Amino acid sequence: MKIAIPKETKFKENRVALSPDVIKDFVKKGFEVVVENGAGLNSFFSDESYSAAGAQLTSDKSKLYSEADVVLKVNAPAPDEIAKMKKEAVLISFMFAATNPELVSACEKAGISAFSMDAVPRISRAQKMDALSSQANLAGYKAVLLAADTIGKILPMMTTAAGTIRPSKVVIFGAGVAGLQAIATAKRLGAVVEVSDIRPETKEQVQSLGGKFIEMKGDASIKIEGGYVKGVSEEFLKMQQELVAKHVKEADIVITTALIPGKKAPLLVTEEMVKSMRFGSVIVDMAVEQGGNVVGSELNKTVQKHGVTILGEGNIPSLLPMNASDLYAKNIQTLFYHLADKDKFKWEMEEDVTKGSLIVYKGQAVHPSVKKAATA
Ligand code: NAI
Repeated sequence: MKIAIPKETKFKENRVALSPDVIKDFVKKGFEVVVENGAGLNSFFSDESYSAAGAQLTSDKSKLYSEADVVLKVNAPAPDEIAKMKKEAVLISFMFAATNPELVSACEKAGISAFSMDAVPRISRAQKMDALSSQANLAGYKAVLLAADTIGKILPMMTTAAGTIRPSKVVIFGAGVAGLQAIATAKRLGAVVEVSDIRPETKEQVQSLGGKFIEMKGDASIKIEGGYVKGVSEEFLKMQQELVAKHVKEADIVITTALIPGKKAPLLVTEEMVKSMRFGSVIVDMAVEQGGNVVGSELNKTVQKHGVTILGEGNIPSLLPMNASDLYAKNIQTLFYHLADKDKFKWEMEEDVTKGSLIVYKGQAVHPSVKKAATA
């Protein structure tokens, strides 16, 4: 089976789907791996390290796609690249298929099968394949460093002969994977950390990391399914904004990570709240790609609003490409070995991981999240 690793082409993408270490294992198991020249350079994996691991290298992108039995990527290929793939070849990458109908139809037209890394079910036996978590963990860490590097002050308390510096206050919205890592990182840097989330179980998790949970009474509009917030009313969000306003006003740094899968991110920080913050404060809106938690944040831009710097970095894991590619490679390797033997795919359509992550099967959209869109 021939596995292709193209160079990522998305704006500001430094990651690559496989590391040399993981390729070594693929080759040992009898797979043939072809890597596009320079695919790993932005993750600091040289072409030589891929050759040494047993991969072949090529500069012919078209051939790479057209001869592959399997294409492994971080971001989904463009439709014209998918069109080059062999009928019945297999693609595995992030797809965010529910909001990406053109991608789904390109896979259908090409007659391929496509698995989406973001759709791997979050069950215990699939934890090693959970790329959403591996990347969100890194992003949560880096978001704190970005804020710390932008703000004109230190985070910890410091006692000096000239006086005592009070610790910075960091307010974090959302205590999911990224938020919890952001809490741990900000605490390690010595900040005082306050956190808002609307899943009740997060209170204990926040406190165990040394964060202060901003108490809030839930209401009937909050829909939680399988550990995810699935929906919340505008009225509740208004109430939440009023309640957290005073915490935001006193914050030096605000980091927002709140998401509702498959929907636009909830608006948590209003313009009034930004206005109320001290001159020189910093906000990192980690939900900016999903529409943003903060009024005024802009994708891939740093903007100044009312004396506050708002960072809208869209792809934070890509800023830590060494770790991000390493972990992603292990996630995708584990999913791949779950689906295939040396010579053939062996997946069973009704098995949980397969069923959860298979978006298109031999040219037909099969995932419930996209079936409707494809036939509409
Ligand atoms: P996410 O990225 O979808 O959302 C981030 C956070 O935003 C969540 O904690 C959510 O509650 C919060 N949020 C939504 N609306 C909000 C609002 N109005 N105000 C404040 N916060 C708000 O979540 P993520 O990080 O992907 O994880 C969510 C769930 O998945 C958790 O229950 C986690 O334990 C579970 N999980 C399970 C795994 C497994 O079993 N293998 C692996 C990873 C996560």
